[in-house]
Amino acid sequence: MLGIESSCDETGVALFDLDRYEIVAEALNSQIALHAPYGGVVPELASRDHIKYGLSLADRVLTDADATGDSIEAIAYTQGPGLAGALLVGAQLAAALAYAWGKPTIRIHHMEAHLLSPLLADERPNFPFLVLLVSGGHTQLMRANGVGAYSLLGDTIDDAAGEAFDKSAKLLGLAYPGGPLLAKLAQSGNPRAFSIPRPLLHSGDLNFSFAGLKTAVANEVRHLTGTALPARGAISTPQPMLPVDHPRRADLAASVEAAIVDCLVGKSLRALDETGLSQLVVAGGVGANQKLRESLTTAMARRGADVFYPPLALCTDNGAMIAHVGALRLAEARHEYDVNVRPRWNLAELTKPR
Ligand code: KG4
Ligand code: ZN
Repeated sequence: MLGIESSCDETGVALFDLDRYEIVAEALNSQIALHAPYGGVVPELASRDHIKYGLSLADRVLTDADATGDSIEAIAYTQGPGLAGALLVGAQLAAALAYAWGKPTIRIHHMEAHLLSPLLADERPNFPFLVLLVSGGHTQLMRANGVGAYSLLGDTIDDAAGEAFDKSAKLLGLAYPGGPLLAKLAQSGNPRAFSIPRPLLHSGDLNFSFAGLKTAVANEVRHLTGTALPARGAISTPQPMLPVDHPRRADLAASVEAAIVDCLVGKSLRALDETGLSQLVVAGGVGANQKLRESLTTAMARRGADVFYPPLALCTDNGAMIAHVGALRLAEARHEYDVNVRPRWNLAELTKPR
């Protein structure tokens, strides 16, 4: 199974061995350096870069695995959700290869691929399990009853957890994407130094809210730098930024990280209580956060529940997770070469494999 991922700022291609149930080759091109000067992903640049690298990554994967088009059973690609132009590039590449080789394609939901990626680890969860899906665009708690059988239990009402990391990082003067950089800075800080709110932590439901957190960090930065609040009714409010040599930077980073982690852990525990499930799967880019992993591991051990993480390299976007879901949804392979993407696509709409 060849897997192609191009929904955002990584071009990922991988080859999954259907008999051995494992990844046999993978290649990735990250666009982080390309977008860094702009402080976020520039969709047009992302699409152009996917075009530039997609085919050569596919070629490299086949060469590494000593495979040819003949040995491919089907081609799985990310149909959505994601950036429309970026998705179209991957869909077009998949259609072109499939047409040339006379092979079928399978359309994959990007978040399902994240959600099921812990099944690629040595220690795997068994259905049903609870999933904490935490990425740059999503913060959801879901119940997974089987492949394609997911129900939404909780969601963010504003920013995603990754967004909260990235926006706070920007206020701390860190580059894009700020999540991992903020986490690194936080290692030398005191998580109790600043009082950052834990929005909705005791709201009695399973929803999240992170927009207020960014405001709290902005206010702390204004306070620390002596910047005045914007005037009432001001049309544009310049974003404050902490200088890179400010002595309280690590403390603020640690305090923000602790607040985000507390919200994620608190709601995950509540979801386990409400559903009676005893396994938690953590998926998505924020799942790479070590503080989150430590806190969840401790909390789960205390209640005798099991927590599963995808291997670190599979937390952020990659082709392996796409090829993997392609293998699970092999029955959906179709000789269809239309290029039809779904930039917005609700995971709960997914069905079981046909
Ligand atoms: O799943 P992902 O690679 O892309 C999608 O959004 O689909 O997630 C990216 C997000 C970014 O917001 C990034 O800052 C965050 O994951 N992230 C982290 C860490 N590694 C990645 N956030 C906190 N700590 C990390 N170690
Ligand atoms: Zn992703």
